[in-house]
Amino acid sequence: MNLEPRVPTPEDFPGPSHSPLVAARLGLWLGVAFGLCFVTGLLSHFIQHPPGWFTWPTRPVNLYRVTQGVHVLSGIAAVPLLLGKLWSVYPRLFVRPPLRQPIRLTAHVLERVSVLVLVCAAFFELVTGLFNVAQSYPWGFFFPTAHYAVAWLVVGALLLHVAVKLPVARAALRTPLRRQQDGGEAATTGRDGRDSSERRVFLRTSAGVAGVAVLATAGVTVPWLRRVSPLAWRSASGPQGVPINRTAAAARIAVPPDWRLEIIWPGGRGTLSLAELTALPQRTAELPIACVEGWSASASWTGVPVVQLLRRLGAPTDRPVRITSLETDGLYAASTLPAAHAGDPLTLLALRINGEELSPDHGYPCRLIAPSRPGVLQTKWVARLEVLR
Ligand code: HEM
Repeated sequence: MNLEPRVPTPEDFPGPSHSPLVAARLGLWLGVAFGLCFVTGLLSHFIQHPPGWFTWPTRPVNLYRVTQGVHVLSGIAAVPLLLGKLWSVYPRLFVRPPLRQPIRLTAHVLERVSVLVLVCAAFFELVTGLFNVAQSYPWGFFFPTAHYAVAWLVVGALLLHVAVKLPVARAALRTPLRRQQDGGEAATTGRDGRDSSERRVFLRTSAGVAGVAVLATAGVTVPWLRRVSPLAWRSASGPQGVPINRTAAAARIAVPPDWRLEIIWPGGRGTLSLAELTALPQRTAELPIACVEGWSASASWTGVPVVQLLRRLGAPTDRPVRITSLETDGLYAASTLPAAHAGDPLTLLALRINGEELSPDHGYPCRLIAPSRPGVLQTKWVARLEVLR
């Protein structure tokens, strides 16, 4: 008997789940999940850092809530799909390719490196995303910048991977499940049927686990799923029935007793006390707080429409407006309302939530609430509005 250690080959892993069909099916589903993540993530990035050509509509009011919910939930679905896919293809680590021509060697090395980049970058995106929804940052880099940059790596490496695997994937997906692999001998021994049903079970289990993971967390943003989503990391609970990420104490907010809202526009300036703001015509609207971390919750907000306030003061209503908070050192101490949002009658300087005066944690004395906008841009503890040129 030869007891010398031997490097295994893919043939040493004959399990039906290690087939090109399983790799291609799971790859297809992963491609959809990562595609959704990429498009919705890009939208969220552009909303927060808009290039000149980008505009984001104010309606439907839940639009950002939906796109960011899809972003986080498709990322969650991708976790079991990625694990299933890697289980399916790991025997390919042991392929020993013939390296006869130098040109082949270069192409081969590049392809191997791109697969390594794809796997590492895909894991990085999913793991950092999960830590982010848990609001935990056990690393030294700035999460949004790293997550955004690595997303491009995933997409680049994924496109290359699909291009390389397209012939195998096409052939595998075109062949009916029961005729995969094996050939005639298997058909006569009955192994063919057993293998195809094992492949089906593996694929269904992977899809099922992804579905359960989504269902277990979707209540974070879909109100009617809250009862069946035990792992939703946020619900409708929080001060005044709406969750918050940053308390007034954490932001070290001290509202001066003589607080006045300052409004500045090209060629003019005005101030209003809280009593004067409260005396203005108010509007009540049902609008969501939709966080970049995927959770969202609707509330009934009452306040002064920004457009009416500007009109009343004689300020222009067709320009972007910079909103500044009393917060001095937070990342989100100021935000800019694009012209479309500033001119929308549903964009409010809110004074009340669900019929009550805003609590300090929700932004007392007044906060911004605008339709279809990330929560980090709904500036709290507002001190100043500045109409930009
Ligand atoms: C984030 C997404 C994906 C990851 C991380 C991933 C990962 C991998 C890895 C590590 C391999 C083994 C590579 C090798 O050694 O040759 C592989 C193989 C393969 N992948 Fe993907 N993949 C992804 C998406 C896709 C997509 C979108 C498709 C297209 C439908 C696809 C189709 C395939 C096929 C057909 C194989 C070859 C299986 C075989 O020959 O047995 N993959 N994938």
